[in-house]
Amino acid sequence: MVKVNIDGALNFLTENEVRAIDTSKPLSELKTLFENGWTKVPSGYNEKLANDVKSMAKKIQNESEVLIVLGIGGSYLGARAAIEYIKSPNYNILPKKTPDILFAGNNLSGEYLEQIIELIGDRDYSVNVVSKSGSTIETAISLRFFKSMLKEKYGPEGLKDRLYITSDIGSPLIKLAESEGYAYLEMPPEVGGRYSVLTVVGLVPCAVAGIDIDEMMAGALAEFENGTEDACYYAAARQVLYRKGKKIEMLACFEPAFRFTGEWWKQLFGESEGKEGIGIFPAYADYSADLHSLGQLIQEGERTLFETFVSFNEPRVNPKVPGGDLHKDKIAAIAGFDMNKINESAAIAVKKAHIDGGVPVLELCLPKLSAASFGALAYFFMRSCAISSLISGVNPFGQPGVEAYKKNLFAILGL
Ligand code: PA5
Repeated sequence: MVKVNIDGALNFLTENEVRAIDTSKPLSELKTLFENGWTKVPSGYNEKLANDVKSMAKKIQNESEVLIVLGIGGSYLGARAAIEYIKSPNYNILPKKTPDILFAGNNLSGEYLEQIIELIGDRDYSVNVVSKSGSTIETAISLRFFKSMLKEKYGPEGLKDRLYITSDIGSPLIKLAESEGYAYLEMPPEVGGRYSVLTVVGLVPCAVAGIDIDEMMAGALAEFENGTEDACYYAAARQVLYRKGKKIEMLACFEPAFRFTGEWWKQLFGESEGKEGIGIFPAYADYSADLHSLGQLIQEGERTLFETFVSFNEPRVNPKVPGGDLHKDKIAAIAGFDMNKINESAAIAVKKAHIDGGVPVLELCLPKLSAASFGALAYFFMRSCAISSLISGVNPFGQPGVEAYKKNLFAILGL
């Protein structure tokens, strides 16, 4: 489903250089080391798992106008990415029959927390706390706030009914769920945080938002069955560019619905590849908005950047610019053009300008914004990220460097 095009990079690399990258070792490492991990998530999606997720989601939908999802990193970004991509970045303020979804536990700001509480107002709400380790400080602090608020509003029995836990088998959160009586779903232990969007971690909030999770997982399965060729091609092209001094990859999309998929992608690639003194720095740009902020730097700044454009063949809607004699200015002739044509023309124009300015452009093309294409793209990115990391010789799993700030914070707080 995901098509990779490297034409826009051919001024900077050759097809032969990309094909010459040996992906056989990374692929066999992926197979032997991670055979039962996230690589098998799409084929492991079965009726029992689907029913467990859907019945939890149905109960939340029936009882609540708002779902608060507590989590950070891989326990936050994937669900938010999927909801914005498949539904809308304006999901919460659009008319709908499903609960609002608010996210907390993704920072340490008291102000943010107070605003989330204000947004809930008098409405009925449930809380899904998501943490693989069950001990992440941001999530653990937010849980204390929401547990105490649920208890105060609904009493001890109501708290039991409205707090839902997603965590690793045997984690402190699962132990808490068992001892205090909360409903819980266990993550597959062999799936790492940033590779968990297609597990219960992402599926529960998505199902509450009314997303067809069967369609999403069918898209992931189709990409899984499609084989590794496209993922290898993208991974190899990235590595060739990196070896030629292109140290920063700017993922860019002309659909604002993609923004949080960009945020999720940053974590996936940044935490997986940035180790042992190497790693492509992952950045995200929301076009055309960011052409008016970062455009100058991309066009004429230091030549250490390459871009990866994500595009969609078919728009979900395609309004035409109103016009005729409505408004006379230098773009009056745009009247009657459809927005998709204009957006696509902008992508062509930007691609040409950036290539001419010395920025290689890779392209990933998908049919349209949908649950199926989200599942496919998420799987494609996880696979190419793991392959790319293994090509560069680092282990894509684990994030030892993240511990440094936590150690300092715990010491400062005397914990
Ligand atoms: O990829 C990872 O494993 C991490 O970035 C985690 O997602 C993040 O640190 C949150 O951890 P946890 O889910 O254990 O709360």
